[in-house]
Formats: sequence, structure tokens, C-alpha cells
Amino acid sequence: MSKKIAICPGSFDPVTVGHLDIVTRAAKLFDEVVVVVMNNSAKNPLFTADERVAMLKKVTSLMENVSVEKSDGLLADYAKEKNATAVVKGLRAVSDFEYEFQMALTNKKLNPDLDTIFLTTSAENMYLSSSLVRQVGAMGGDISEFVPAEIKEEILERLCK
Ligand code: PNS
Repeated sequence: MSKKIAICPGSFDPVTVGHLDIVTRAAKLFDEVVVVVMNNSAKNPLFTADERVAMLKKVTSLMENVSVEKSDGLLADYAKEKNATAVVKGLRAVSDFEYEFQMALTNKKLNPDLDTIFLTTSAENMYLSSSLVRQVGAMGGDISEFVPAEIKEEILERLCK
């Protein structure tokens, strides 16, 4: 039987413990998971794509079936290239739903073989977002509960420059 491959796409600017929770759970559901750093045209990232890939690689290094890449193309095309059948995303609240639903339907239109699966964010991460991490960190707040410990210092270094 062919391997079941899922894509976890996002801006990951920076990766949070909420993202990591979703990737960890996706890795239990699929044979292979490709985490891909992509462009969100509505966002102006703080970290370069290569920096975000490096941070993701660091925090997923012990996950045997997880790889990390970047792409500046369309998610629907990228999934086809990787033979992926699913996109896995975390859904935090009703406020996420409309935008995520729109993206899922667009991706399905562009690539009919691609389904989007939403995992309910763990309750303790409901409020968490990369933009919140950037705000709290830049103002000297404690981000230790929001980001993986291995990358906390490099995030703070950039935010407090
Ligand atoms: O973490 P984000 O910013 O919510 O992730 C959004 C992302 C990067 C997954 C989305 O913007 C995306 O898929 N970008 C790649 C380009 C693309 O395919 N755009 C059309 C989406 S329907």
C-alpha cells in the first residue's frame, strides 16, 4: 500500500508549541508529514524562510517521519508534487474557521485529490499565535510557555534587537 503523506503548511513566524502539537499529532496519523514554510500574502514575516525552516528542523529533529521544507508556490501544487493526500491544520476557534474553510475549498478546487483535515487545537493552546509571541517577546514578556525551549533564545534575540 502506498504511504499516506500529509502536509502541515504555515507561516511559522515563529513556530509555537501550538504548531508543534499539531505536527506531533499529524505524525501519529500519517506515515509521513512534510512541514512546509510558505508565503502568506497577507503577512510580512519577521524571520526569513530559511530561518523558519531551521527552527522547525531543530524542534522536529526527533520525529522520524517528519521533514521540513520551504516553498514559494501554491500549496495545491506542492501537495501534488509530494504525492500528499491531506493538508493538516490546527483550528483554534470559530474566528479561524471562515478563512481556513475558504483555503480548504480553494485547495480542493485546485487539487481535487487533496483533502484538508482540521485538528482541534489542544485547550491550553487555544489563545496562542505567532503574532502574540512576537508582541509579548518584543515587549520583554516571558515567552517560555509559548515556544519550544530550543528556539526561545534566538527568537528573543531577534525580537529585542
Ligand atoms: O500560518 P498561516 O499564515 O495561517 O498559513 C497560511 C498558508 C501559508 C498556509 C497559506 O497562505 C498558503 O497556503 N500559502 C501558499 C500559497 C497558496 O497556496 N495560496 C492559496 C491558498 S488557498
